Amino acid sequence: MAAVLAGLGGALPAGVVTNDDLCRELDSTHEWIETRTGISERRMVAAGQSTRDLAVEAGARALKSAGRSEVDAVVVATTSADRLCPAVAPEVAHQLGLGTVPAYDLTSACSGFLYGLASAVGHIASGVADRVLFIGAEAFTTMVNPGDRGTAPIFGDGAGAVVLRRGRPDEPGAVGPFDLGSDGSLADLLAIPAGGSRQRSATGGPGHEGVPAEDWFLHMEGRPLYVQAVERMTASSRAVLDRVGWSVPDVDVFAGHQANVRIVRAVAEELELPDDRVAVNIDRVGNTLAASIPLLLIDAVVRGRLNPGQRVLLSAFGAGLSWGSTALTWPDLSVEEVC
Ligand code: COA
Repeated sequence: MAAVLAGLGGALPAGVVTNDDLCRELDSTHEWIETRTGISERRMVAAGQSTRDLAVEAGARALKSAGRSEVDAVVVATTSADRLCPAVAPEVAHQLGLGTVPAYDLTSACSGFLYGLASAVGHIASGVADRVLFIGAEAFTTMVNPGDRGTAPIFGDGAGAVVLRRGRPDEPGAVGPFDLGSDGSLADLLAIPAGGSRQRSATGGPGHEGVPAEDWFLHMEGRPLYVQAVERMTASSRAVLDRVGWSVPDVDVFAGHQANVRIVRAVAEELELPDDRVAVNIDRVGNTLAASIPLLLIDAVVRGRLNPGQRVLLSAFGAGLSWGSTALTWPDLSVEEVC
């Protein structure tokens, strides 16, 4: 028995923000951002639009792609939920007309898609569910200081969703073994200090005495993260290839988390994977955290880069620190372009 990928769908906010748009308010240039990150533009939510809205849209498309609207559970991976409490997943399930199914959020930043996928697979493996809707959804640009040139250019908003169903391990789409890991000793490299139980929201909002305004936004140390991302994604990819019994030349498409095109290329180089096997969409969407890999897979499918029968390696890295990888043979899915 295995969990098999049965549906895939995505959502992006309509608002396109180019590097030039950003640089009107930011001490940076299109050239710097594009050269150092590979990003040309990203999507940002409009006022009043939230992670839930993107999750609902992506979820509806994934259910359509799967050809059936019933599921037994909804899992949402997000680090930018609409509110600290409650989780966004029950509202998403409600808005999708899924009734009173179990629904919860999971927070694992940029590795959220891998952690959430493992959870969804676990529900099927344990017999708790036959079909699971799993969504990675983020409006993370709302958590980034628009005046911080170290973080503002990097992130984008979006959502990607999959439907998993109970199936056989030898079917295309059977999600393979996982490698997951974390290192909390480096938690401060990527963090939003305020708003949780440590710097209590009860002591006031942005600008409150004792809670510096910038602590309500993301803090990031880019250089050490870069090094960790390359090391962890490379080691995790190798671990999963060992578990699934593939060697590097067996991989047709490497779908690595889109944090920086240089990170993805560096991992591919470490693995000795040729450039033409590396999927990239960061130029158009930026880093969308838990939505990154499903949006990348959709892009690869609609561009004809990823076809049924091809072997895909997924790998992600993010705050926590946390990382994860898995592999699957691509199934025959009908996937709508996300505009
Ligand atoms: N525009 C212009 N200059 C910028 C800039 C920007 N947007 N951001 C930083 N700089 C400057 C710095 O101030 C620094 O100047 P200095 O040399 O005069 O001090 C210089 O560019 C180099 O900065 P550095 O931070 O070392 O750049 P970098 O090449 O490491 O690129 C990141 C920065 C953030 C793009 C890169 O470190 C990265 O992608 N890290 C990983 C981030 C990540 O993965 N985050 C999410 C985890 S999933």
